[in-house]
Amino acid sequence: MSDEDELPTGDSTTEVLVTVMPLGADIVVRTGESLMAAAQRQGYFWPTRCRGQALCTACLFEVVPGSENSFGPVEDPEQAALISLAEFQARRDRPLRLGCQAHPLRPARVFKRGVKTAEAPRRPTGFWG
Ligand code: FES
Repeated sequence: MSDEDELPTGDSTTEVLVTVMPLGADIVVRTGESLMAAAQRQGYFWPTRCRGQALCTACLFEVVPGSENSFGPVEDPEQAALISLAEFQARRDRPLRLGCQAHPLRPARVFKRGVKTAEAPRRPTGFWG
């Protein structure tokens, strides 16, 4: 086997792709980056009021079936925010996560209304845009 035959050892494991529906945006998320931060870095608008402090829950998204194990664990700040939404969560079929706190570890599909391209008009939004 020559050097040219070796498999690439680049940093392909440092990025994962997350598809955000209904927009259909493919967000490249770097290791240690939240989904919302990655979307903003790539020019998307992601609803937020507290700018990623786990206080407003405006960044909330649904995890699409099949992607439940694609995210890192819920840490204390996110858990505190999600507890405040327990009644809302009980009426949903899909798990909820905060876009500003959830760190994708594997490719995933999520549902989040209100995510927009940089060119789209922006209005104040609630949970679901
Ligand atoms: S941006 Fe406010 S809770 Fe995530």
